[in-house]
Amino acid sequence: MSSLSLPGGTWTLGDLTVTRLGYGAMQLAGPWVMGPPADRAGALAVLREAVDLGITHIDTADAYGPRFTNEVIREALHPYPASLHIATKVGALRDDRGGWPPARRPDQLRRAVDENLEVLRLETLDLVNLRLGNAEGPQPGSLAEAFETLVDLQRQGLIRHLGVSNATPEQVAEAQSIAPIVSVQNMYNLAHRHDDELIDKLAAQNIAYVPFFPLGGFTPLQSGALSAVAARLNSTPMAVALAWLLQRSPNILLIAGTSSVAHLRENVAGAGITLSAEDVAALDRIGR
Ligand SMILES: NC(=O)c1ccc[n+]([C@@H]2O[C@H](COP(=O)([O-])OP(=O)(O)OC[C@H]3O[C@@H](n4cnc5c(N)ncnc54)[C@H](OP(=O)(O)O)[C@@H]3O)[C@@H](O)[C@H]2O)c1
Repeated sequence: MSSLSLPGGTWTLGDLTVTRLGYGAMQLAGPWVMGPPADRAGALAVLREAVDLGITHIDTADAYGPRFTNEVIREALHPYPASLHIATKVGALRDDRGGWPPARRPDQLRRAVDENLEVLRLETLDLVNLRLGNAEGPQPGSLAEAFETLVDLQRQGLIRHLGVSNATPEQVAEAQSIAPIVSVQNMYNLAHRHDDELIDKLAAQNIAYVPFFPLGGFTPLQSGALSAVAARLNSTPMAVALAWLLQRSPNILLIAGTSSVAHLRENVAGAGITLSAEDVAALDRIGR
């Protein structure tokens, strides 16, 4: 399959064209995103398969592992194809218990950008999302100092495009008042639809919305209505959940995660199914 024929087609992040169907690399680290991949050869195979399938957008973070996910991306794919764009996140570290303490001081952000560049072996990061909030979700508060630090690094040529993650609508607006953003990466899926209004607002501005946990993350989506639609279409609940996102809005980019080549292939093939208005109505009721 080529990039042109992947379900959902392409989207332009600033000046970078990516397939709407991307890949989220977080699940490649060890259990609870700590430590090296349990199956390193398998992790390398998933990344290479993603590129072979035509995917041109991979989402990562230096905090995954930490470092291990970026290392495996480099090992699998460096030197990167010119069409491939890697998005990363800064703003959180990992502690001994697997927590995600914030790291949004200017010195911490500079170090995180340097570490991403070093481990991925890049001179410029295509897209850096400032990760806000905490494990409970977005939290209110100004992002100005942290975001201005990233803008400074962008001016130095270390970052091409900026985005925000785990952000409130107010923080998205605050970032936009400082510098242009090309994406917002927040939790969103069939069952968690807090950002419906934000998605539509961003679509009107040609800004990508990149849902994390599109399949439910650590607790995969389970719903009788979802299974019923999947059975009617002779598909799977995961494929239907991805197809619903692609049809929800043209600015939605998928970064579903998997550590399995078979699941990756299933997701890429399945996300292309067309949902009828009746299917969409049944699925919409899950999150309302
Ligand atoms: N910005 C943030 O704060 C933030 C937070 C979390 C995640 N993220 C990003 O979002 C990406 C996606 O999140 P995620 O990977 O945690 O969650 P996800 O995409 O919602 O779900 C991944 C889970 O679904 C399973 N899965 C995938 N395809 C499947 C299939 N066809 N059949 C059955 N199970 C399937 C995977 O298991 P298998 O490995 O067995 O396939 C994995 O356990 C991450 O990779 C990361 O890049 C960002």
